[in-house]
Amino acid sequence: MRDVAVIGIGMSKWGECWQHSLRDLFVSAALQAIDDCGVSRLDSMYVGCMAPGLFNGQEHIGPLLADYLGVTPIPAVRVESACASGGLAFRQAYMEVAAGFSDIVLAAGVEKMTDVDGEAATYALGTAADQEYESFQGITFPGLYALIARSYMQKYGLTVEDLAAVAVKNHSHGLKNPRAQFQRAITVEEVLQSSLVADPLHLLDCSPITDGAAAVILCPLRKAMKLSKHKPVKVIGSGHATDTIALHARKQLEFFYSSAKAAEKAFQMAEVTPQQIDVVEVHDCFTIAEICALESIGLFEPGQAGKAAAQGITHLGGKLPVNVSGGLKSKGHPVGATGIAQIIEIVEQLRGTAGERQVANAKIGLTHNMGGTAASTVVHILEAC
Ligand code: COA
Repeated sequence: MRDVAVIGIGMSKWGECWQHSLRDLFVSAALQAIDDCGVSRLDSMYVGCMAPGLFNGQEHIGPLLADYLGVTPIPAVRVESACASGGLAFRQAYMEVAAGFSDIVLAAGVEKMTDVDGEAATYALGTAADQEYESFQGITFPGLYALIARSYMQKYGLTVEDLAAVAVKNHSHGLKNPRAQFQRAITVEEVLQSSLVADPLHLLDCSPITDGAAAVILCPLRKAMKLSKHKPVKVIGSGHATDTIALHARKQLEFFYSSAKAAEKAFQMAEVTPQQIDVVEVHDCFTIAEICALESIGLFEPGQAGKAAAQGITHLGGKLPVNVSGGLKSKGHPVGATGIAQIIEIVEQLRGTAGERQVANAKIGLTHNMGGTAASTVVHILEAC
């Protein structure tokens, strides 16, 4: 197996992009990634996208996007694993380069969610839950995460203020990220006064509906120096795992088994311990998700991450900075693109080019990207060269 590096990164505008289509967003991100490293060809591409059929009435997007980028006839594959589609696209690209099938591979993610109204977007997202046992009974993703939040609160004494502190932290990080959808500070009081979406989760506990794309370019590490002007960032760990889709079939709601298994594999492969991680991007689709994810991947003991944001531990400048990009909460969550954007944030941190968001001396970073209520998780660990 060959060592693999990330050499190019690019992101489209994120937010409500009325004037841009799915393909515009993808091409904008992909061209920036190509320009970032200066490669003159691609050997293949993987694109994470959760539900283009429901959001845009468009399937078969592998060739569509390759054509619009002008790179046909290279192989182009759409990867789907709900909100983990981007992370999984990255893993497929990583494996293809590591296995020696291809040298220069684009891993991208895209979702154009505002082509439909809120009700249709909620329906499209809900198709990633178990239809017969969950969605048909009327529960949505905010409802499912509300159940998880209640379970955690009952077990560990978490308060709504602790949950709100996660949103406040991630919005404060997003203020430092010019690419974030929401660039405004919020307070715990504002979170608690925002509309109740699914008790105990308020509007400001939720990630938003977002249009956006992100793209990175991978190549063998030994070619990275020749191909790119940037310091290469090496992929040292990759893990992917699954769990039941339906929550009722799980032994406990607040511990994400797929996240634990994916992280275990990634840590084993990377030969590093959780204590060696300097900077983390986790899948905070709801404030409770950040807390459960941090515990499930072994960065906090069970019951210990609940107050980490309120205590400043996970803030930029804290002991373990989490979601310094602003996370899904503030940067936005175009579901298929999120996993790739997490990789981009870690690459910028490890290159030392994250500007105001830079974590001092960041050498090793981790991304955690999950689908649905963690029925699938992809974890990657990256290291500065
Ligand atoms: N965070 C911060 N602000 C938000 C927001 C969010 N999550 N969602 C909407 N807003 C803002 C909008 O920008 C708008 O502000 P404005 O009045 O200044 O323009 C205002 O709140 C109302 O927006 P609107 O689009 O009408 O909100 P909504 O009630 O239709 O949707 C949610 C709010 C929380 C229901 C929606 O964002 C949602 O479904 N989020 C979850 C997405 C999800 O499940 N993803 C998959 C995870 S597994």
